[in-house]
Amino acid sequence: MADSSGTDAVILVGGLGTRLRPLTLSAPKPMLPTAGQPFLAHLLARIAEAGITHVILGTSFKAEVFEEHFGDGSELGLEIEYVTETKPLGTGGGIRNVMPKLRADNVMVFNGDVLGGTDLGAILDTHESTNADVTLHLVRVGDPRAFGCVPTDDDGRVTAFLEKTQDPPTDQINAGCYVFRREVIEKIPSGRPVSVEREVFPALLTEGARIYAHVDSSYWRDMGTPDDFIQGSADLVRGIAPSPALPGQRGESLVHPGAGIAPGALLIGGTVVGRGAEVGAGARLDGAILFDGAKVEAGARVVRSIVGFGARVGPRALVRDAVIGDGANVGARCELIQGARVWPGVDIPDGGIRFSTDV
Ligand code: GDD
Ligand code: MG
Repeated sequence: MADSSGTDAVILVGGLGTRLRPLTLSAPKPMLPTAGQPFLAHLLARIAEAGITHVILGTSFKAEVFEEHFGDGSELGLEIEYVTETKPLGTGGGIRNVMPKLRADNVMVFNGDVLGGTDLGAILDTHESTNADVTLHLVRVGDPRAFGCVPTDDDGRVTAFLEKTQDPPTDQINAGCYVFRREVIEKIPSGRPVSVEREVFPALLTEGARIYAHVDSSYWRDMGTPDDFIQGSADLVRGIAPSPALPGQRGESLVHPGAGIAPGALLIGGTVVGRGAEVGAGARLDGAILFDGAKVEAGARVVRSIVGFGARVGPRALVRDAVIGDGANVGARCELIQGARVWPGVDIPDGGIRFSTDV
């Protein structure tokens, strides 16, 4: 067994989260509430569960929010340190930038937006048994084009790294978790933006470095788009996605303390209702995420959508596959569907946006 206590963890959380705007205008993606906790709490709990204790967060965008929430990590049984890039250095630059804080020989690097159930200890074991310079966790997906495509040979050795290629040669993709031998990180150029996917991995392969794959079929989801964020959150609520940060029974919905649910409201599909949020009589919430203080009025329907902090969905409105920004108001009988995004504080009058012609 590899020694997880002798491994540092680095989590990259410095991205802008553009695909989740407008929610990420006010909070960095890894801090968005996910089944009642900031998304990152689920990843940190998995790291702690695997016996890794020293964690460094590579921050940039809205850097201060992380430390305000997690502090020194002692409440989670961790020792968390923060290293901030004043200008984003990219994924490779972010890893290089934390070098002065590293203590262990092996460094487990995580993308900060992946919801996963993989056995971290098993990845460390693969790294040790193959005597690799770098080990990549890979998963198989239906459409690899949005990810890093990673072909391997019969021994599990990585033969190429093709970031977001339109013509993927395999369905194996980079799951966003790597183990680096510490010396390899030292060789990443410092002081300028570097992409680990587009620059570091291809260069290491050209040099003949030993890069091995750990492939498994554990739960895995990149939470970077509204569709994935909503699905991942629902999977956590329903117990389909594992998380040591969520104790106890899981079911069709998760209602937080201080929320008010009127009689006859239906909450299904892994719906989350935040603290102080309100749901009116006869409203139907299916795979909905209501951040704290959000309000869904009587007879409204919210399907596979996020309603931001303090936002309101008016009576008999329909919100489906949409994102409503913090503090926005969707008037009565409005219909917002298929990728609609309402910016924070915007007020849509009653009946103001419709896709049907009935009154
Ligand atoms: N510190 C720091 N600095 N972190 C960054 C920066 C930066 O400049 N840029 C991005 N990050 C962080 C993001 O916050 C995120 O947690 C992680 O790095 C990955 O960035 P994404 O923007 O989410 O990348 P992606 O989802 O398009 O692709 C990556 O993840 C896929 C798996 O989820 C790549 O690593 C793909 O190869 C991979 O398949
Ligand atoms: Mg991502």
